[in-house]
Amino acid sequence: MSYFKDKTIWLTGASSGIGEATAKALSSEGCKLIISARRESELQRVKNECAHPEMVTILALDLEKHQQAAQWVAQAWDIFGGIDVLFNNGGIGQLSAALDTQEQVERKIFEINYFGNIALSKALLPKMLKANKGQIVATASIAANFGQANLAAYSASKAALKLYYESLWQELKQTPLKIQVVSPGFIQTQVTLNSLTADGAALGKNSPAQEKGMPTSVFAKKLMKVMAGSKFHSYIGRKELLAVPLHALFPRLFYKLLK
Ligand SMILES: NC(=O)c1ccc[n+]([C@@H]2O[C@H](COP(=O)([O-])OP(=O)(O)OC[C@H]3O[C@@H](n4cnc5c(N)ncnc54)[C@H](OP(=O)(O)O)[C@@H]3O)[C@@H](O)[C@H]2O)c1
Repeated sequence: MSYFKDKTIWLTGASSGIGEATAKALSSEGCKLIISARRESELQRVKNECAHPEMVTILALDLEKHQQAAQWVAQAWDIFGGIDVLFNNGGIGQLSAALDTQEQVERKIFEINYFGNIALSKALLPKMLKANKGQIVATASIAANFGQANLAAYSASKAALKLYYESLWQELKQTPLKIQVVSPGFIQTQVTLNSLTADGAALGKNSPAQEKGMPTSVFAKKLMKVMAGSKFHSYIGRKELLAVPLHALFPRLFYKLLK
């Protein structure tokens, strides 16, 4: 039997890209889904395009307003009477020189990518612990591994997220709960297009790396294998993943090639 059959899965960042493709793949497996993001109309489109729209519920939320996390979790929990998996994936990019980037933009990146993400987990984990089962998968990034020009706040937010979950994984090791982090490489989504620039305006164009990246449907299949497994951390991407060992072993060569 499929690992996912009859599971209730809550996905954030489900209105586009990675979250959308994963919602569709999970719906084909017969999962009950709660899909979240800010844009309700896009969530409605995703729901309609799922294999079993009748088993998909929309819960619109803005991760920047994470003071409401307990309320969202209570709502989400009650929809199907529990949550087996949270795919904690919603996030936003940033593309601007560190010295030009306004502090309010840096804070926004952290509020969404770090505090919003962990607030959901912190509100949900007591319920999962009480139920003695549950799984949380957070989306970090290959960019969490090394500093790069124009990505300071984004990379820092994802590095913080990854280390937070690594600590949580250690803390919950003696419980039946599963904590995982997935670090995508270049995936064909609108993450660069939606990235914030120095003054907080969206960049409005995609990068060639993104456009040539892994299709989201391929990513979703690989992610589902990761979810069904027991590894804490996994990379999903193509040859860009070589950057990780290259940076670790030959940092000078890495930055020369990056130029
Ligand atoms: N694509 C890549 O190459 C890549 C690489 C590494 C990591 N990632 C990470 O993968 C995750 C998914 O991104 P993606 O690539 O699929 O890009 P995307 O298509 O831009 O999707 C981002 C998702 O996050 C949601 N989101 C953004 N801000 C939010 C907020 N304040 N509150 C709630 N939801 C919010 C968006 O929905 P709304 O706009 O409707 O709120 C959207 O559903 C992100 O965490 C991203 O950092 C992507």
